[in-house]
Amino acid sequence: MVSVDSRFRNLNVSACSLLQVLECYIISIEFFIIPLLSALWIMLPAYLPNPVAALCGGGTPIDLGRNWSDGHRVLGDGKTYRGLFAGIIAGIAIGAIQIWAAAAYGLGDLPRQTLLSVTLLAVGALLGDLVKSFFKRRSGMERGANWPVADQYDLVAGAFVLLLIFDPAWLFSEVTPPSFVCILILTPLLHRAVNIIGYQFKIKEVPW
Ligand code: CTP
Ligand code: MG
Repeated sequence: MVSVDSRFRNLNVSACSLLQVLECYIISIEFFIIPLLSALWIMLPAYLPNPVAALCGGGTPIDLGRNWSDGHRVLGDGKTYRGLFAGIIAGIAIGAIQIWAAAAYGLGDLPRQTLLSVTLLAVGALLGDLVKSFFKRRSGMERGANWPVADQYDLVAGAFVLLLIFDPAWLFSEVTPPSFVCILILTPLLHRAVNIIGYQFKIKEVPW
């Protein structure tokens, strides 16, 4: 016969396991899911400009076809006015939608985007891309050449440098260290995935 005592012990063990599962769940939300969602929410206005530039780009190159003193193009045919402006407009537009959605649906737990933050993120992402291409050409790499690390992090560097200069208060209040770590992990993965899709759909000439 099972004693009352052992039944209580079993109940106690089950309650403890349940608490442990609950604890793991809360910890995973706090340490992984919230920073991950925050990272995506912060970076959306910086992530969108690149694929939109690839979709809409073409026409007059920003360097107007000119060469630098080393004989190589200043930026190359991969950097055009159309791509630049379409990308920036798309980044700001998605940011404006985020600001509206946060107010309309009470998304107060996510980082608070502002018109200034989304503009700096969108402009910074494509300025980072331009600066990277400038140095790519200086080291003799042709348009579309693979330059690991720089190709993936140019948009993060550009966006964060602009935020640091023009809105450091926003940067330090909204981007927490865990979400910054998520941005660093997420960016190259998303960059690669989007470029492979772009290549499959013949929007990009190379899958990187
Ligand atoms: N694009 C554009 N204008 C920009 C940025 C991108 O028109 N300011 C378009 C170009 O058609 C470009 C494509 O988006 O080829 C993909 O962008 P990216 O990979 O940044 O350019 P690459 O062609 O790889 O050139 P680079 O070697 O200079 O990075
Ligand atoms: Mg490229």
